[in-house]
Amino acid sequence: MQYHVDGELVPASEATVNVRDRGFMYGDGAFETMRVYGGTIFEWSAHADRLQRSCEQLGFADALPPAADLHARIQETLAANDLTEAYTKLSITRGVQPGKLSPDPDVDPTIVVYISELPRGGTDGERVWSGPAALATVDSRQTPDSVLPADAKTHNYLDSILARLELRGSEADEAIVRSVDGALTEGASSNLFFVDDGTVHTPADSLPLLPGITRNVVLELADAAGIETVTGVYEPDRLVDADEVFVTNSTWEIRPVTSVDGRAYEVGPVTRTLQQRFDDRVEKLYD
Ligand code: PDD
Repeated sequence: MQYHVDGELVPASEATVNVRDRGFMYGDGAFETMRVYGGTIFEWSAHADRLQRSCEQLGFADALPPAADLHARIQETLAANDLTEAYTKLSITRGVQPGKLSPDPDVDPTIVVYISELPRGGTDGERVWSGPAALATVDSRQTPDSVLPADAKTHNYLDSILARLELRGSEADEAIVRSVDGALTEGASSNLFFVDDGTVHTPADSLPLLPGITRNVVLELADAAGIETVTGVYEPDRLVDADEVFVTNSTWEIRPVTSVDGRAYEVGPVTRTLQQRFDDRVEKLYD
């Protein structure tokens, strides 16, 4: 494999960053995880916009190369590895700077494109997940926006990592995280949806959560299918009476949930319809 590090394609074994890189030292960086179908990055402009917003929150958006340049780095990495169906992660950090914690205004970012093969799921293929998800509500809470803006996709993933650690020794493979006020927010690395009486619900992005690119696509697909969507503030007990639950992210796409805190759910018709529409969209737009 070859990865892209600071403008150069390098063999995976030589793809390294400086030990003084602030992304390594402090988590001072932003990233996007993306899916590539048929050689095309799924929802590239939405990912590029979110990366721009993340870098703005971190105060180094001026150092972010134009989206076309970042796009070209990913395309070069795909070509170098002869991949058209892939998982890719684009990271940008504040780089190496003199001094210690205080960020220097002069930023020479470290930019890395990591890639791996990921066969498409879709209408004929196999999903990347081996089965529906089992969720468990965890005790650790979502970092409030006043501490760390949740809509910035930064290298600081410790809240999600601590949430996943709580799953150890259980059957669950995704955590349900709540805000400090107790409202449902999202999964450790996914957005949460439930279906109640034919309506699709998901926590509102006024809550501290990462508004996923897949989440937006799913809300659009539901609208197009004439399925009502509501974004709101929900207490965890709203899931008890839900008819269907599913989670979304760029890698999983739409992943049904068959268990929440040990309670069983069916993979229902709304989830299936949305999965079908998602797969059709991928087949139509990404040959
Ligand atoms: N994670 N919420 C969190 C906390 C996430 O980490 C992610 C994605 C999402 C879904 O976002 P999207 O639909 O844009 O992938 C929601 C990616 C997959 C990751 O962890 O690399």
